[in-house]
Amino acid sequence: MGKIDIFDTTLRDGEQSAGINLNTAEKVEIARQLERFGVAVIEAGFPASSHGDFEAVKQIAQTVKNSTVTGLARAVQSDILTSFEALKYGEQPHLHTFIATSPIHMEYKLKKTPDQVVEIAVESVKLAKKYFPLVQWSAEDATRSNKEFLARIITEVIKAGATTINIPDTVGYATPSEYGALFHYLRETVPGIEKVKLSAHCHDDLGLAVANSLAAIENGATQIEGTINGIGERAGNAALEEIAVALKIRGDYYQTESGIVLKETKRTSQLVSQLTGVIIQPNKAVVGKNAFAHESGIHQDGMLKNPETYEIITPAMIGEVSTELVLGKHSGRHAFISRAKQMGFELTNENYAKAFVAFKDLADRKKEITEEDLFVLLTDQQVQA
Ligand code: KIV
Ligand code: ZN
Repeated sequence: MGKIDIFDTTLRDGEQSAGINLNTAEKVEIARQLERFGVAVIEAGFPASSHGDFEAVKQIAQTVKNSTVTGLARAVQSDILTSFEALKYGEQPHLHTFIATSPIHMEYKLKKTPDQVVEIAVESVKLAKKYFPLVQWSAEDATRSNKEFLARIITEVIKAGATTINIPDTVGYATPSEYGALFHYLRETVPGIEKVKLSAHCHDDLGLAVANSLAAIENGATQIEGTINGIGERAGNAALEEIAVALKIRGDYYQTESGIVLKETKRTSQLVSQLTGVIIQPNKAVVGKNAFAHESGIHQDGMLKNPETYEIITPAMIGEVSTELVLGKHSGRHAFISRAKQMGFELTNENYAKAFVAFKDLADRKKEITEEDLFVLLTDQQVQA
């Protein structure tokens, strides 16, 4: 069974979300939880971008011991040297450097020719290798780059000493089959690629970030990048908790292991939501409020007979307290009686039937039936008995 390294960029790409601003103490708290969650690499920030980021990356590098800590640097000398000052405390200092490789980015943003971009990339990796034993190099906007050019520049940066090659879908443009095919092509074409880690980094503009990451795994990726709750620039990044659970639940298919401590999932997700202020949508896979809630009568009946009828993930697996059988207008008699018994009521069949009618009547009028509502309904029947 192969191993996939999980690279978490909640504190760098995730913090680039509009409206998020974490202070150093909050970043250190999240980093410690990510370490408990079992991520292989924590991208703690972009040290050259601000004094605050520098300080946070430095403190995280000094604190975290069981995950590798990295920081982002553009392909410029000052970024690389500043990053080293923040990251040098780790046992094996790791740097993440990048340059754009797509025609639109090279022409309009960088104003460089492809040959110049290859030269800058190689020089930046060579400089980084003087300080860092581990150097990840990313081809920004890889999925809109010419694939022959991509193969050429990757060949050169591997020769210059890069230890991880990352293929970002920077603007969330790729489809799963295209993204998978790109990994396949690079594996077949680039000499020496089998000696480095090959990483996927997906954005969610078309809602495909998780699917694209899984397609990359099927085509030889050995590292997956993303954020907790999928936060990040624009529509966000691939949600790591979804990928980790998919790899576990469909281990039969992916035949791989992520090293993630799944029972820390809920706690990690809640912490990131609380500290960033980004609310988790209720129907979000794995960590949404409704991810383990069942309302319809048919589903509730199935759940009471055997939870596997409608749940492929157990709440306990991700550190969630329990499944919730929500009582609403779609709920059935079995779930209603089961909840009444949990609340300590013992009624005759006839009174349960009357209480159920009253409950359905109320549920038609009211969105959410509370514990207090049930208490009143059931007490009424108890008193009449
Ligand atoms: O999306 C992207 O291209 C990035 C790079 C800096 C890796 O975040
Ligand atoms: Zn990104």
